[in-house]
Amino acid sequence: MKYPEKLLEKVRQRSQGMQLEGINEGAGPVNPVLMLVGEAPGRNEIKTNIPFNGNSGKELMKSLALLKLKREDVYITSVVRSRPYSKKKVFDKKLNTKIVKYPNRKPTKKEILAHAPLFDYEVEQVKPKIIVAMGSTAVERLLGSEYKISTDHGKVLENQAILQLNQKEDGYEWSKDKYTIFLEYHPAAVLYRRKLQETIEQDWLKIGHYLKDSK
Ligand code: URA
Repeated sequence: MKYPEKLLEKVRQRSQGMQLEGINEGAGPVNPVLMLVGEAPGRNEIKTNIPFNGNSGKELMKSLALLKLKREDVYITSVVRSRPYSKKKVFDKKLNTKIVKYPNRKPTKKEILAHAPLFDYEVEQVKPKIIVAMGSTAVERLLGSEYKISTDHGKVLENQAILQLNQKEDGYEWSKDKYTIFLEYHPAAVLYRRKLQETIEQDWLKIGHYLKDSK
C-alpha cells in the first residue's frame, strides 16, 4: 500500500533520532480474508519492499498454505514499518579488524508509538474483519498487556476493540470499530524453538476452521 506523503512525513518527525531504516509498505488486498500483523521489517523486507520476505516469511507461507491461502489472499503488515537496528562493533576475523554492524532488533515502545499513525491508517484503509496478531509485539500494540502469547496463543477474541493512537497522539485509546482477533506466535518463533512447530500448526488450523464455519 502506498502511504500518503503527509503521513510519512508525520511518522518521520515522530521517529527523529530513532535507529530506524527505510519504509517497507504493507501489502495485499483491501477487505482481505485476514489481515496479518507482525512486529517490524528486517533487512530483507527493506531491500525488497515485500513484507515477510525473509526466513520468517517462509514460515508464514507454510502456515498460510495449511489454510490453502497464498500471500496474495491476505493483507500483510507489521506495527512498525521501518527496520529497527542496533549498532555493534565486532571483530572481523577475515579482515583482522573491528567493523561496525547494524543488526535487526525488536522495536521499542516509543518506536511503535511513533509509527502508530501508519498502522492505524492501514487498518482504516484495509478494513479487515479478522486480524491475526502474530507475536507479543503485535498482541500488545493491538490489545495492551492483558494477553501473553505464551499462554494465549491460538485464542480468538470476537467483537474486540483494538488500541489506536489517541487524540493527543501521545498514547492509545480503544477503537469504536470491533474486530475478530486471533493470537498467534510470530512466524520466527519456530526458528528459535523447533518444538513449537506442531503447536503453531494447530493454532493456524483453528483460523482455518473458523473461516470455514463463518462461510
Ligand atoms: N518480521 C516481522 O514482524 N515483519 C516483517 O515484515 C518481517 C519479519
